Amino acid sequence: MTAKLNVNIDHVATIRQARKTIEPSIVTAAVICEQAGANGITVHLRGDRRHIQDRDIEILREVVTTYLNVEMAATEEMIEIAVRTKPDAVSLVPENPFEVTTEGGLDVIKNKETVQNAVEKMKAVGIFVSIFIDPNEDQIKVAAEIGAQQVELCTAEYAELTLSSRAAHGEGLKKAEAEIQRIKHAAETAKSLGLIVAAGHGLTYRNVGALAAIPEITEFNIGHNIISRAVFTGLYHAVEEMIEAIKN
Ligand code: PXP
Repeated sequence: MTAKLNVNIDHVATIRQARKTIEPSIVTAAVICEQAGANGITVHLRGDRRHIQDRDIEILREVVTTYLNVEMAATEEMIEIAVRTKPDAVSLVPENPFEVTTEGGLDVIKNKETVQNAVEKMKAVGIFVSIFIDPNEDQIKVAAEIGAQQVELCTAEYAELTLSSRAAHGEGLKKAEAEIQRIKHAAETAKSLGLIVAAGHGLTYRNVGALAAIPEITEFNIGHNIISRAVFTGLYHAVEEMIEAIKN
């Protein structure tokens, strides 16, 4: 079965916030993604509100008819927002105020109590809980132990290895292939523990295919590359092309 695609539309809000104005509309973006065949919409409500705002979550909750997945840190502030707005899913992510983007998976071993508290509070109101983690067996075991229903495997390292033409040759190719094997093993481990497996971060039209071939991965969360392509082709076509890249 082909894996689902949730389109991360954070960067539509990034453009809007550059002028702190009303356009481009994330509502229009969400609807176009859905019409183009996306299975869901993902947004990251960051502590610093650099792109998505609290009001966006409330509006998207009303507008999105497919699946609304909100990425957030496991803080009391974010738990309160999730419990109040009830997205279909919450993906717990690490957050560092100075990072350009999320820098790797959440360390659930180190933050076990905090993350477990967040998982329990979200599940208690019927929110599906995913945890964004590195493709590491020990992290996956703890994610299962504390009650996560899904893990999203961080593909940042794979993305870095496949970013340039270096990846197509010699050492670069070997490293990328080894990382695919690491992700595959992590996906198998997670599935064997009863977890649903997603993947994301830095994925592109060019590099998603090798991961889409891993049958345990049933969902991708992809943002930057789709929104970048949309600047030139329009959002509808950019989403369609990513769906095709996942299928093939
Ligand atoms: N998954 C998670 C948990 C993320 O934090 C992000 C970035 O917000 C993504 C997926 C999407 O990454 P990208 O924008 O590089 O496709």
